[in-house]
Amino acid sequence: AMELIKFLQQQGLGSRKDCRRLIDLARVQIDGSIMQDPRQTVDPATMSQFCIDGEKREILLFPLYILLHKPADFEVSHQPAHYPSVFTLLPAAMQQAGLLAVGRLDADTTGLLLLTTDGRFVHALTSPRRHVPKRYRVTVKHAILPEMVAKLQSGVILKDDSESVAAEVVTVLDAHTLEMTISEGRYHQVKRMVAAAGNRVVGLHREALGSVELGALAEGAWRYLSAAERAALGF
Ligand code: URA
Repeated sequence: AMELIKFLQQQGLGSRKDCRRLIDLARVQIDGSIMQDPRQTVDPATMSQFCIDGEKREILLFPLYILLHKPADFEVSHQPAHYPSVFTLLPAAMQQAGLLAVGRLDADTTGLLLLTTDGRFVHALTSPRRHVPKRYRVTVKHAILPEMVAKLQSGVILKDDSESVAAEVVTVLDAHTLEMTISEGRYHQVKRMVAAAGNRVVGLHREALGSVELGALAEGAWRYLSAAERAALGF
């Protein structure tokens, strides 16, 4: 719980003065009541409706822990070069909230992407020492041969790298599709591993990170991580 004025600031409605003005002009409505006292305590976690000028707004719950189903042709960057930013898929106030991506996905990669305002969360999940498993569904150009699977499982040397990296799990789904779990997060890792094993990635989709599954969330849609999902990741 927090003061109303603090809540409005958190929701990206401007300075204390801007927010105070919104209240004075009776533009702020929470759970059906026009809010008049800037010092009044409100609790975003139990709030069911928040409106400005009668227009319903997303209630941002801080710190933000967001799961986004990244579509192809979006860049994981606040300053994208070739495609729109993944952040443009979120409500406007959320785009201003200082979200960080938990690792990167290539522009052509789809699937599970975590976004957060909590720098410790980013660090914990991307630290090489933590070995958080990431599961990808990989579509390849050439039919999958047993030798390719064996190489991914036993380890391949990536160009410009000295040690070999191996997949933790490889499951062949059909002649051109496999699921692969890796626990590092090197640059273009899946594409480079598949290339080193003699094939070529033509489609890459992240299905899971640690115990968090993308599930049935539609492409381009987002949701909050649940308390259980956060707890499973140690947050
Ligand atoms: N590995 C890749 O090659 N690309 C990604 O986007 C993610 C993992």
